[in-house]
Amino acid sequence: MKKYTIAAVHGDGIGSEIIPPGIAVLQKAADQIDFALEVDEFDWGAGYYKKHGDFMPDDGLERLGRYDAIYFGAVGLPDVDDTLPAMMYTFKVRTHFKQYVNLRPVQLLPGIASPLRNKGLDDIDFVIIRENNEGEFVQNGKIIHPDEPHGLATDTSVFTRKGIEQVAHYAFRLARKRNNKVTNVTKSNTLINTLAYWDRVIAEVAAQYSDVEYNQMYVDNASATFVLRPEVFDVILTTNMIGDILSDLGGSIMGSLGLGPSGNINPEKDYPSMFEPIHGSAPDIAGQNIANPIGTIWSGALMLDHLGEEKAANAIVKAIQQTTRSGIKTGDLGGSAKTNEVAEQIIKNMDQQ
Ligand code: NAI
Ligand code: MG
Repeated sequence: MKKYTIAAVHGDGIGSEIIPPGIAVLQKAADQIDFALEVDEFDWGAGYYKKHGDFMPDDGLERLGRYDAIYFGAVGLPDVDDTLPAMMYTFKVRTHFKQYVNLRPVQLLPGIASPLRNKGLDDIDFVIIRENNEGEFVQNGKIIHPDEPHGLATDTSVFTRKGIEQVAHYAFRLARKRNNKVTNVTKSNTLINTLAYWDRVIAEVAAQYSDVEYNQMYVDNASATFVLRPEVFDVILTTNMIGDILSDLGGSIMGSLGLGPSGNINPEKDYPSMFEPIHGSAPDIAGQNIANPIGTIWSGALMLDHLGEEKAANAIVKAIQQTTRSGIKTGDLGGSAKTNEVAEQIIKNMDQQ
């Protein structure tokens, strides 16, 4: 029997309420399809930092590197400096393991009304591919004389030909498996160096996929289009920061931030990839068993798909759809189900497939 090893990093806030039900769903899929999952759980994050002075132990990356994949909640707490979580955990893992693709499906689920009036299941179904290792988020800058009248701060984006090419190839290959269309969301009319170069390199890659329709759209127009005409999108290819912002908008047009899944992917599989919901640690609702577990459970399906267990991944997505269709929803979607009740229903639906 095939066996996969998974590092489950709960993180903070609602992390320890959504990761355990997510693991239960994954184990159910493993039982049904006949593969084994060996899961080790870690309490790393901002809570760990308060006790130990770091978000993970010194050998944390080395330990994560031994697993086939990482299943992650979210990090960050209101009483911990919020510049630390990305630097000490999220970006650290994403860059160390060369997870240069951030994959974020935006797909309306049955039984859920999008806040976009008149938009249905056929209209909201696309994928955001966000460059995940460089761009605006390299944290390359300085704050100088912050308290002086002449205080100044810089953050300098970094875009490399290799970084742009590798994520572009992933997006075009993905489009071939979907509806054959890539939209580059950019802002090269004002970021005339970095994003002009981004556009140029992507256009070169696009020329190698003449069967895939290619166009580009400025991010201001793209934001409006998310709301007015989401049906024009198939695969969106965009930068680290633009993708971060657009994916919360994507989660919102799906009806809740609690629904959106994501994968931080190293396509070559030289390193483990990391799967997490698009939302944060939601400290405002933590500890109440009311968080929506679907973004996390769906992220687990992306993880199984990445590991090669496509059938198990599809079974989970189908069970999620059956659950939302039958009206079992958490409070963020106007329902009254608890976190564990939604997860239990998903497992029950898998049994009946
Ligand atoms: P957030 O995504 O945690 O919460 C935004 C709003 O959405 C809140 O009202 C929250 O209750 C709601 N929400 C989020 N997930 C939900 C779920 N599963 N079910 C129901 N409602 C849900 O974003 P916020 O408030 O900006 O950040 C909180 C903390 O999370 C910060 O420390 C931030 O740095 C961190 N964060 C961490 C991320 C990561 O680890 N990848 C990503 C985003 C934020
Ligand atoms: Mg975000």
